[in-house]
This record gives sequence, C-alpha cells and structure tokens, in this order.
Amino acid sequence: MCGIIGVLSTDEGDTARIIRECLKRLEYRGYDSVGIATQYNGKLHIKKDKGKIDDINRKLNFDTLPGNIGIGHTRWATHGEPSRVNSHPHTDCKNRIAMVHNGIVENFIELREQLIEEGHKFQSETDSEVIPHLIENFLDEKDSIEEAVQSALPQLVGTYALAIIEKDSQKIVFARKESPLVIGIGESALYCASDIPAFLPMTNRVIFINDGDLVVLQPADIKMTRIRGQPSPIQIREPVLIDWTAEMAQKGGMPHFMLKEIHEQPKAVQNTLKIRQEEIQHLATLLNDSNNLILTAAGTSYHACLYGGYLFANLARMNVNQVISSEFSEKLGGTITDTSTILAISQSGETSDTLSAVGYAKNHGAKITAITNVMGSSITRAADYFLYTLAGPEIGVAATKTFVVQITTLALLGLTLAEIRGVYDKSEIRQWYNQLMNIPLQIEQIIEKQEDYIKTTADILAQKPNFLFLGRGINTPTAMEGALKLKEISYIHAEAYPAGESKHGPIALVEPEFPVVFIAPSDNTLDRLLGNVMEMKARGARIISVTDNTKIQNLSDYVFSIPQGIAPILTPILNVIPLQLFSYYAAVKRNYNPDKPRNLAKSVTVL
Ligand code: M6R
Repeated sequence: MCGIIGVLSTDEGDTARIIRECLKRLEYRGYDSVGIATQYNGKLHIKKDKGKIDDINRKLNFDTLPGNIGIGHTRWATHGEPSRVNSHPHTDCKNRIAMVHNGIVENFIELREQLIEEGHKFQSETDSEVIPHLIENFLDEKDSIEEAVQSALPQLVGTYALAIIEKDSQKIVFARKESPLVIGIGESALYCASDIPAFLPMTNRVIFINDGDLVVLQPADIKMTRIRGQPSPIQIREPVLIDWTAEMAQKGGMPHFMLKEIHEQPKAVQNTLKIRQEEIQHLATLLNDSNNLILTAAGTSYHACLYGGYLFANLARMNVNQVISSEFSEKLGGTITDTSTILAISQSGETSDTLSAVGYAKNHGAKITAITNVMGSSITRAADYFLYTLAGPEIGVAATKTFVVQITTLALLGLTLAEIRGVYDKSEIRQWYNQLMNIPLQIEQIIEKQEDYIKTTADILAQKPNFLFLGRGINTPTAMEGALKLKEISYIHAEAYPAGESKHGPIALVEPEFPVVFIAPSDNTLDRLLGNVMEMKARGARIISVTDNTKIQNLSDYVFSIPQGIAPILTPILNVIPLQLFSYYAAVKRNYNPDKPRNLAKSVTVL
C-alpha cells in the first residue's frame, strides 16, 4: 500500500505537475494523504497534507513546486493517523533530505528512541520518519547521498520502497526491499514508481528493479547497485517494452474504473484464452507431479483458489488444498516438504500475505508456481514457474476483471490436467474447451442485456443493511466473491455460505424482506438449492437469483439471467458478472466511490 514516485525531468517548469499526475494514477494504492517534494537551487520544497490528491491540490497547488527533480507519495496509513505531519515526504532535522516510503519499518520504536537520544527531532508518529534521520547521521561523513543511504539501510528491519532527494544533489536515490519499484525510461524524463500505470502515458519502456537493489537516477544516467549486505541478484536488469497502453490506465469515458473494468471482461477473457497451450501444459505438468498441491492467495484471489479446488477435484480428480495466505504457516506449516507444490494466485503479485506464504513454502523446499496479472511483480521473482493473466492494468480497488481471468486460467489448467490424467477423453475436453471460447461473447451479452435491470434492482435494494449470498459446489466461491464485492465497495454487510450450511445458523438472521442472493445454475446441486430457496421464502426473504433455471426464476423476486447450457464447471465465470454490476450500482446509489473504498488499498503490502 502507498504509492511512491520519483521523476527526474529535463523540463524544469513541469516536474511537479508530472509527479502529481503520476500520483493520481497511483492513488488506488492509498488515498488518505498526499505529498510532493522537489529540489531546486540548493533547497527542498515540500507540500503535503491529509486528503485526496485533487482536493489537496486545489488547496496547495502542487504544480508550483520548482525544479526538475522530485518525489511524491500517496498514503495508506499504517503508523499514525492521516494528518499533515504524518504525510510523506518526511525530512531530516535540517531539511537536507526528503524521503517517501512504502512499507513498514518494524524496528522503528528502537530506532526512534536511539535517534532521539542522539538529539534528532521528530515531527510525525510514523515509522517512516526514522529513515531520513538515520541517513542524516551519515550525510556529512560520506561523499554522496547514495553512500549515506547505503550506510543507513542495514539498520532497518522491515520492508521498503524508498525515494530520497538531497538539497544539493541532482539525483534521486531509490531502494527496494520487498516493496515494489519499477523504472520508466521516457523521452524527456526518468521515472521510478511503485507501479507501471504511474508513468504509462509517458512510456512503456521499463526496467524491473530487483529486490535488494539501490538505484540512482541522474540526468541521462541510471546507476544500479545492490544494497549493502544483500546477496547478488539473480535477474539481469534490462529495459523491456510492456504491452500495456496509456488508455488502459484511464477511465475511457466511464464514470469509474470499476465499471470500465467490468466492461473490459469479454476482452480480458479473450486475451487470457490466448495464453499459449505449452505454458498451460507446463504448469499443469508441474501441478500434476506434486503429491501435496496447495493453492494459496488472499481476498478475491483466494476465491479463485477455491474455484480451482472444486475444479481440479471434479475435473481432474486431484486432491488439492486451498489456504488463505495469511493462515498458511499456521495451517499447513507442518506439511510442507520438497514434494509440495504451491500455486499462488495474486493479481498484483505484490500481496505481502501471499508472498510470505510463498517464502515460507520455498524455505521448506516446496516448488513455487504462480498466476499473476502484473509483469515483473515480486511473485514472478519468487516463483519457479508462473503464468500471466492478460487482463491489462486493473486500477479499481475492487478486483473484477482480474478475478474473471484468474478463474479462466484455472479452467484452462483444469481441462489440461483432466487430459494429462486421462480422466476424460479428448473429445469431451474439446467440448468444454469450445464452451470456454464462447464465454467472452456470453459475458458481453450478460452486460449488454442486463446492466440496466441490475442497476434498477441495486437502486431498490441498496438501503438494505444486510445480505446473504448462498451457492453450492463450484458456485460457493462465486457467492463468496459476490458478498465480498458488495461489502467492500458499498459497505453493506454481506455474508456468504454454502447454501447447505444456511440452516445451521445463518437462517436465524432471516426475517421478512431480508435479501438472499442465490447463485443457482442448473447443475447437480439444483434440487437441493431449490429446497434452500423454499426455506428462505417461507421466512419472507427477498430472493435475488443468478440463474438459468425457470423453477428458480419463478421463485425469485429479482432474476439475473445466465445463458442456458453452460457446463457447470464454467458457470462461475458468468455468474460473477451480475454480482459485480450489482455491487457497483449499490455503491453508486449509496453515494460511495467504488474505485476508492474506505480503508482499502489495491495491493496490500503489509502483513
Ligand atoms: O493482488 P492480489 O490478488 O494478491 O490481492 C488480494 C486481495 O488483496 C484482493 O483480492 C482484495 O481482496 C480486493 N480488494 C478484492 O476486491
């Protein structure tokens, strides 16, 4: 969480504006405070405050900050409430250094006490502020700012992506340990940011920085070394061209990124279906070779793991565990060996919980595989083998298209596994495969035909305080994803259960008019699900169904229709679409910004 950016430009008058616009594109990483520092004429110039970028810019006018070198920060508070003093950039005692930080300094209490004893004066409650004060200690005795940074970094325990400027230096120093950083090489400027969309309108030529790297951006020069004490890097740092475009990171006429990303799903799935079969085959073989396969992820990506679990068991007769990454070592710690294989799923590839689970498994000898949407992300560096989903950048905090491409990729894997394991013959698998190829069109039709109706339904139900989402079998994860979407962007309390579990407790909540959403495709769970619908109706519940089935439709107050004849294992890819739209319109009806839900950030880089 938190987004950082550093820009070294040839255009003196425009650098602060460029930084502000880069920060705007990083705002999905955190949006409770914002700040920019520039270096000009032997002085640092800083503006910062609590609040969203546009609001603070109206108040402070960032663009007037002078100079062609600067750094910026958009914050998701961890240590210290959102306030002006806690906003980044932070400085040393004499305002010689300005620094922005994404990560957590775990030993900040000890460092702060030690620095205060040495005479340093602190302004904020943050963990981050110890960093410029530590660097300050070395500033006079070292020849350069980067040498001072090198001397200070070994004292930090925790994670960081840092950008540092010094009042007399024509350079920006960056360092990364477990928090992302990527360089952008533009025509008239060099950039280094937490994520590619920050500078995407200016360049798609990037260099991925290795974990443990220290980078110095100077006019017409990029110097890269290792942070002292870090082992040598494995990967070479070469510029690469990425195929994301500036338009992909813009709203394209839509009111919100989330809506744009929901509408992009047919294309995203279509692209993902073009992942080369050799790559799918290679990953499927690795998974098949394992005698202890574990799928792990957080949040929405964990729901994809759950889908994968049902799919691999049903289609490929495979025994597979799924575990929430933050519970990984506690739940499965004792079982990980060198015959285990992990399939970690993360759209960002930067989620700390997932990376930590992967790190734990790796240390215990497991093979690591991954599915991610972000090129060069940390998970790709930790994995022995990985696949990219091809959704393009997802900016809305709520995952939509990245979830749909994750489960599409799992469907491709499941079909390949079923073939490798000889569970079904080629012709049966071909039929599923053909259906999968048709899914982009069906998503398009669902959106086209039902969006207005879903919006009207959301308008009617948006003031309900509680929702229950129920599904069975492979659509239990769909119910969970529907509930997560609703609660995270509209702040309506929503719970999901396997429908069979509802009578073991949740049904006690149900009273007349209580909304219950059923995910009810015509599969082998339908008869039992019909029973659950009846139970809810008998207690006066309002039934909202996502279904292709007329019996369920006749029992429902609101119906989100799904095309008939889809193989049950593929229905989650379609069923989730109306749920995403419903959450989106419920949030809008309640006057919340679905792109920036309170207290959340796009990639969660704290444990
Ligand atoms: O980048 P990841 O897929 O690893 O992110 C995992 C979760 O943080 C993420 O899915 C989160 O739950 C989203 N807010 C869901 O919309």
